Amino acid sequence: MPTTLRSRYGPWALVTGAAHGIGAEFARQLAAAGLDLVLVDVDPAVHAVAESLPGARTHPVVLDLRRDDLAAAIAPHLADRPVGLLISNAGAALTGALLDHELRSELDVLHLNARAPLQLVHALAPAMVARGGGGIVLVASTVALNGGPWIANYAATKAYLVALGDALAIELRGVVDVQVLAPGMTDTPGLRASMDPGDAPLPPMTAQAVVRTCLQDLGRRHLVIPGAINKLSTGLSRFLLPRALRHRLMASRRVRPFRQDG
Ligand SMILES: NC(=O)c1ccc[n+]([C@@H]2O[C@H](COP(=O)([O-])OP(=O)(O)OC[C@H]3O[C@@H](n4cnc5c(N)ncnc54)[C@H](OP(=O)(O)O)[C@@H]3O)[C@@H](O)[C@H]2O)c1
Repeated sequence: MPTTLRSRYGPWALVTGAAHGIGAEFARQLAAAGLDLVLVDVDPAVHAVAESLPGARTHPVVLDLRRDDLAAAIAPHLADRPVGLLISNAGAALTGALLDHELRSELDVLHLNARAPLQLVHALAPAMVARGGGGIVLVASTVALNGGPWIANYAATKAYLVALGDALAIELRGVVDVQVLAPGMTDTPGLRASMDPGDAPLPPMTAQAVVRTCLQDLGRRHLVIPGAINKLSTGLSRFLLPRALRHRLMASRRVRPFRQDG
């Protein structure tokens, strides 16, 4: 796999949300595959991740992805770094009843989870097309497929990524490999902020396994649900349960607030 990833998408990959969790694991596995990395996160801890990858050229960028002028803000960091692989991973959620949250906070979630990936695709994909190849991974969630009462805006932003990725996979077919990655519960700092992983109905997956599945399937499948149980339960509920019943089942899973951003 390593040689293939570098020769197919290298030399540079860009990973968002790279300071922690799934994004930091993307950084580790892509560095091990020989890619050089632009690592973007709002948390300055992204520098420590970059320094922990001695084999790779790294360029850490501390940036809030919710900003209006994201494409312009990222451009100077890409000048001498042709990015052939975009991993749009950063995301956040507010859990609980939508109307209990400030609109401003939900707009922050929308801007991070949906507007930022759109801006990054728009900034990076034209050069991939011009070079004749590349890859884009949009990190969504199984809630985009199963429905998400008590996490409504998050589920809607992730459904946006599914629709965006579905369409882009066709528009860019044969040139850029587009994948929507839909993890189920994954043991990361983000998940631990919302619940004790021991309380999860099923043991959460590791970030290592989620990222490994994504990279193995890149260029082969455009919707990737890591883990046999997640794949089975999402597939069964999508194809066997009527939409309204699926949403009522999801509604029984109340969780406490995940992240109350800004
Ligand atoms: N973990 C799961 O169970 C799970 C399941 C399905 C889908 N996902 C998706 O997988 C992705 C990664 O999740 P994770 O669990 O690894 O998350 P995580 O542990 O919370 O890590 C996310 C990273 O993104 C950064 N970030 C947050 N807001 C940002 C902003 N405005 N600008 C730039 N960076 C920002 C965070 O920085 P701070 O720590 O400073 O906020 C953190 O370093 C997300 O899109 C999430 O929705 C996760």
